[in-house]
Amino acid sequence: MNGTLVRADSRADLSSALATFGGRVGFVPTMGALHEGHVALIHRAREEVGPDGAVVVSIFVNPTQFAPGEDLDRYPRTLDADLEACAAAGADVVFTPSVEEMYPTGLGGGVTVDPGPLGAVLEGAVRPTHFRGVLTVVAKLFGLVRPDVAVFGQKDYQQLALITRMAAELCQGVEVIGAPTVREPDGLALSSRNRYLDPEQRSNATVLSRALFAAQDDAVRGSAAALGAARAVLRGVAGVDLDYLEITAPDLGPAPATGEARLLIAARLGATRLIDNVALELGSTSSTPEGGN
Ligand code: PAF
Repeated sequence: MNGTLVRADSRADLSSALATFGGRVGFVPTMGALHEGHVALIHRAREEVGPDGAVVVSIFVNPTQFAPGEDLDRYPRTLDADLEACAAAGADVVFTPSVEEMYPTGLGGGVTVDPGPLGAVLEGAVRPTHFRGVLTVVAKLFGLVRPDVAVFGQKDYQQLALITRMAAELCQGVEVIGAPTVREPDGLALSSRNRYLDPEQRSNATVLSRALFAAQDDAVRGSAAALGAARAVLRGVAGVDLDYLEITAPDLGPAPATGEARLLIAARLGATRLIDNVALELGSTSSTPEGGN
């Protein structure tokens, strides 16, 4: 940490900037439009590498993870504010490459990272090319930054699970850390896409976290009760189109009957698609409430 934020637009500048640091490198890949959730990731990276290490943030809206018709063109780009946020959060280097810098041979036809079966479920069922794009750009960024540790938000839980597996299975030599989701006071998970919501949608959007929290409260009675509680909350709000509400194992494998699990939700409010998830501790389905049957 040297107190001044260095901006690198090219691979060469990034390499020169990194050469001035001696300690461990902590990395926070982002697509910009930074919010308090990203700031928490930067702070976590600093905790991991300490004052002598380097914290690198990348800001790159990666075209290959957007399908045609998705929000690539309207994805918020707020570079000046992002640079200020990185400086205030104590990052050392911000890498802001162009598309040509990241994809010098073009966007199609090159080598990509296949996410495997886990990339085809949940988000992958709705966005079939998404995780190939995410893993490919993250692998490139890992190759350029060569971090010791990389921090991602648990809000994008499937992304975190896939990147964790990629780093381990492709022996990338980076420890992947998942940081807790940061929420608004009313429970809405922070997301760069929240800014697309109009006031009515913003108010309705709390139904996602309310449904997840209701499921958490009822999880002691088993997965059917947890899902029932979540669905009851979702039924109470109009204008929210559910894509999925699913309980899985923490590693996104098949849901266990009892014990640790994950509940994931995705829904569309108008043109905006939001995702969220929470941990569940599933109790036995046989423990019905008193007087129940
Ligand atoms: O979570 C994001 O912002 C992006 O998917 C990531 C990991 C930076 C890859 O483009």
